[in-house]
Amino acid sequence: MSDSPFGDISVEEFLRDYWQKKPLLVRNAFPDFEAPVGADELAGLSLEEDVESRLVVQSPDGTDWQIQHGPFDDDTFANLPESHWTLLVQAVDHWVPEASEIIEQFRFIPNWRYDDLMVSFASQGGGVGPHYDNYDVFLIQTQGKRRWEVGGFFDQNSPRRPDTPVMIMTEWEPEHNWILEPGDMLYIPPQVGHNGIGASDDCMTYSVGFRAPSHAEIMRSFTDFIGEKLTSESRYTDPDLTLQDNPGEIRPEALQKVREIFTSYLQDDARLGEWLGKFVTDPKYPELDQRPEQPATVAEIREALKEGDLCFIRNEGSRFSYSAGQDGEIQLYADGNCFKVSGSSCALVTSLCQSPLIVINQGEWSDQQLQLLADLYNQGSLYTE
Ligand code: SIN
Ligand code: CO
Repeated sequence: MSDSPFGDISVEEFLRDYWQKKPLLVRNAFPDFEAPVGADELAGLSLEEDVESRLVVQSPDGTDWQIQHGPFDDDTFANLPESHWTLLVQAVDHWVPEASEIIEQFRFIPNWRYDDLMVSFASQGGGVGPHYDNYDVFLIQTQGKRRWEVGGFFDQNSPRRPDTPVMIMTEWEPEHNWILEPGDMLYIPPQVGHNGIGASDDCMTYSVGFRAPSHAEIMRSFTDFIGEKLTSESRYTDPDLTLQDNPGEIRPEALQKVREIFTSYLQDDARLGEWLGKFVTDPKYPELDQRPEQPATVAEIREALKEGDLCFIRNEGSRFSYSAGQDGEIQLYADGNCFKVSGSSCALVTSLCQSPLIVINQGEWSDQQLQLLADLYNQGSLYTE
């Protein structure tokens, strides 16, 4: 595997010319990739209560579309038609640790932009129909063949069928028509129209998906975060009020005062940074309790280290990011929580954010370092082998 998954195109060139701009087809991007989850395992995952899955079935002429949401049962699969259906399972990397390895090839995008690995299996003719997403996605063909029609930018106002439970865009002329074979990869930017159609009976696609918060989510989350910390005495004030001609007028001075309320919170870097770190590392499935049955203490970790090195692994469903603070301090954000560290713990934090596992050898570790590991372990963001 070369350093760049884009063949002759370097990662820098990809970011400059394609990322969020235009689609890119890469033949043989992952020639040796052996998919850790096959069709049977995928169907097995879709039977699980906590796993998010969908089954999309269409009539062969494309007039009728049906969607069902998991968890499914064995009958669901026994009663499927011969062709024109697809099963899609979200966050496969959360459930199958080996599946998360492919994500490491995409770490040139910041951790916090990553969403999940979705895996789909399609029969001949199966797919979710012509649509666009608001996310960047890398589609890796792992088995069988899929035809991809790609092109054009779309948005909320683009014409679509009103009578289908999945987005089926009408009035669409794709610019590209590509058949992907195992190992090939296709990058699709947000809002670019695409339609993947199973071109064999065993079509499997791994989708490495990225997310970008909407402005609505950013505004709501930030104002909630600030609002929760304020007392009712923090209020609009106007000791400089002067007589106005019409009491009904909202004067420009009032508008300016409200603007200053907003900007005072926005200009506080520490607060804005803390909100952003917590917001972007919130787990995808916060309702899943990942905490260990038995919490660990610093003394227990020290004791365990006497027996040998310890390997701490980031929970596959966990999000880790950090930001550099003032005076050499670092803020680690893990699953929506903030840990402020300094000194020798900073290197531990940057290592934890850089790679999915860290080996703690039998050397010298401070209480602060081991406390951080204990805290992350106890909140379920790290586990040990
Ligand atoms: C897929 O069917 O594997 C990809 C679905 C999509 O285009 O979003
Ligand atoms: Co899509």
